[in-house]
Amino acid sequence: MYFKTGHERAFGTFPLKDQQIEDALESALDVGYRAIDTAQMYANEKNIGNVLSQCGLARSELFITSKVPTSEFSESAFIPSVEKSLSELKISTLDVLLVHWPPGDDDVRPSLDWLQQAKQQGLAKHIGISNYNTKQMRIAKEHCSEELVVNQVEFHPLLNQQTLQKTAIETGIPLASYCSVARGKVFEYALFNDIAQTHEVTAAQVVLRWIIQQGVSINPMSTKRANQAANFDVLSFELSADEMQQISALTNTGYRIVNDTLVPFAPTWDK
Ligand SMILES: NC(=O)c1ccc[n+]([C@@H]2O[C@H](COP(=O)([O-])OP(=O)(O)OC[C@H]3O[C@@H](n4cnc5c(N)ncnc54)[C@H](OP(=O)(O)O)[C@@H]3O)[C@@H](O)[C@H]2O)c1
Repeated sequence: MYFKTGHERAFGTFPLKDQQIEDALESALDVGYRAIDTAQMYANEKNIGNVLSQCGLARSELFITSKVPTSEFSESAFIPSVEKSLSELKISTLDVLLVHWPPGDDDVRPSLDWLQQAKQQGLAKHIGISNYNTKQMRIAKEHCSEELVVNQVEFHPLLNQQTLQKTAIETGIPLASYCSVARGKVFEYALFNDIAQTHEVTAAQVVLRWIIQQGVSINPMSTKRANQAANFDVLSFELSADEMQQISALTNTGYRIVNDTLVPFAPTWDK
């Protein structure tokens, strides 16, 4: 049921802007990434458009995701904001369009209607959601006539997201992971290095493999070519059931990066 769009590894682009995103994306494309994750809020779509329009790759080879922020959740603003994304990215349609956040714990349905309209108008091939809790996932599933191909959420080995995973299976809305290496926090745990040695890979690759092996896609961001290459090369080895379980035990840490302090408008997260 997972990877409905067939792209399990995207290149994350937050918080890179200006020359930094252009350099990082050129390198990521060279390494092999074809899926790119951006958002209106990242203020880097224009730079991404510059790189993609000059990279020599056909549009059909690329897979571009962007997201509409809650500030554009109105009848008059939603669609024009997507048209602006397309213009900045220099493309005519997105591969995936997401609503970046639910409107706190308020009704998600109006924004889902505008999201579906964007697809029906040909502005996006696929649509999905981000930062939805389980209650909102169920409402979205019930409400939408168009298929939702993903719920992009914080997902890494230091946070237990089993409740969301069960709801992903129940609703058929797969999860994608952001903050996959917990912005570096995972590297404080020796377990990843220990397992990495067995497979002759790096700690980051072990972390990303643990995510992918659960049917959750990844969007790691890196400014460094060596890290980008390692993060892309996660399909050539497999973690044993015991290794998966040892890593899963760390989810009891309960380390949430995108918490209520960082994002006061976040919905009530599932326990
Ligand atoms: N939907 C949402 O609300 C939402 C929220 C947050 C993020 N996102 C998306 O998800 C993407 C990823 O999340 P994120 O960037 O916040 O967190 P992340 O991918 O967990 O962490 C990025 C950090 O990890 C380091 N890193 C990456 N790969 C590494 C490796 N192999 N070895 C050592 N260090 C490594 C990078 O440093 P170097 O540059 O030095 O490699 C960077 O500082 C974002 O770029 C964005 O596209 C979405």
